[in-house]
Amino acid sequence: MATIPRGATVAVTGAAGFIGGWVVRFLLDKGYRVRACVRDIDDPDRTDFLRAMPGYASGRLSLHAADLDNAGCFDDIFRGCHGVCHVSHISGYDDVEYVRMVCDHIIDSVNKSETVNRVIVTSSIAAIITEGDINELVRRPVLYEDRSPDEDNPKRTPEKGHGYAIGKLLAQRSFADAAERSGRWDAITCCPADNVGPIQSPHQKDMGPWQHNIELMLLGAYEQTPAYRPWMTVDVRDTAACQIGLLESVDVQNGERYIAWSTDTRNVEDVCASIDRLLPELGHDTPEVTDPFPDRIKAREEELRGIWAGCELRNDRIRAVTSVTFRPLDDSIRDCIESLLTVAKVQPRRKPGFKPGS
Ligand SMILES: NC(=O)c1ccc[n+]([C@@H]2O[C@H](COP(=O)([O-])OP(=O)(O)OC[C@H]3O[C@@H](n4cnc5c(N)ncnc54)[C@H](OP(=O)(O)O)[C@@H]3O)[C@@H](O)[C@H]2O)c1
Repeated sequence: MATIPRGATVAVTGAAGFIGGWVVRFLLDKGYRVRACVRDIDDPDRTDFLRAMPGYASGRLSLHAADLDNAGCFDDIFRGCHGVCHVSHISGYDDVEYVRMVCDHIIDSVNKSETVNRVIVTSSIAAIITEGDINELVRRPVLYEDRSPDEDNPKRTPEKGHGYAIGKLLAQRSFADAAERSGRWDAITCCPADNVGPIQSPHQKDMGPWQHNIELMLLGAYEQTPAYRPWMTVDVRDTAACQIGLLESVDVQNGERYIAWSTDTRNVEDVCASIDRLLPELGHDTPEVTDPFPDRIKAREEELRGIWAGCELRNDRIRAVTSVTFRPLDDSIRDCIESLLTVAKVQPRRKPGFKPGS
């Protein structure tokens, strides 16, 4: 098992996505050869931004069609690669057998390649913080890599909305176990927080959810975050840098996971108010928060906000093994807004009587 050599070939799944697109761009910037995996290479709406990247015309960046649901479709793509950044979503997280199957599709292709040294598995902070009983966060409020949700809680089921967190933890373990059995490659998991930052292609404005939420704020409507959780953020560019840092690190071990977050948190109403504070020239008409929760949840607002305020976010470990410096959230929000306006042509709701440029 080893890190990847400089200039190596790296495959990126989910390359047309918000995070994957930045992983591709930064790998190219660092001199790597990149195989960008998308489901439909003939969809210009999702792939033109990749073709416009430096490296495509010369062939250092190539596009490949692959759907995780199909066994063997990564075999040819991974052959000759030293690294894989597995960034993509899957078609659903609520079916444990399906999650296992798609993990196995990637794992089998990695094993067959005989060249891949390291796989970065993209998990989520959901696999660290999503609890069946939120009071578990009071008992264990330090949010760091060794923390997992209470897996014995009977409320922790896909039916109760925990499929994503369960699936991400399952994927982390499947890859680590397979790498251990193989002895030829290692699997390092990256757990990104709430990604904010610039989109690179118009279609990414509808993905997210976080950049899409900022789009909704710009348009004049937004909702409270479930359980009144503040946004726990990372810039999407820093998530990509973390993925590459983990790919290159000589200080990481198979099975480890690393949280990618700046440790900045902000309540959703303050995120929304940030738009006018950061870009007063825009004349954004800050909307009121909509609280869609039933009365029994609304009655607990103060208690729930208190639980989140008592949590302590840590990023000591990823800073120790990569050279990533996390951007402040204000920079991520500003760059996200400006990309939504310029790349996706979002038309913000302006204050009554406001004239742009006045
Ligand atoms: N965004 C966040 O704040 C955040 C936070 C924590 C964790 N994550 C994790 O980070 C990863 C990327 O997130 P993202 O925000 O970049 O997502 P995204 O913008 O929605 O992109 C995900 C990509 O996954 C691909 N995909 C979905 N189903 C697939 C399948 N069956 N086979 C192959 N590809 C498939 C799609 O590819 P095509 O475009 O080619 O169809 C899509 O571009 C995900 O694993 C997500 O769980 C994200």
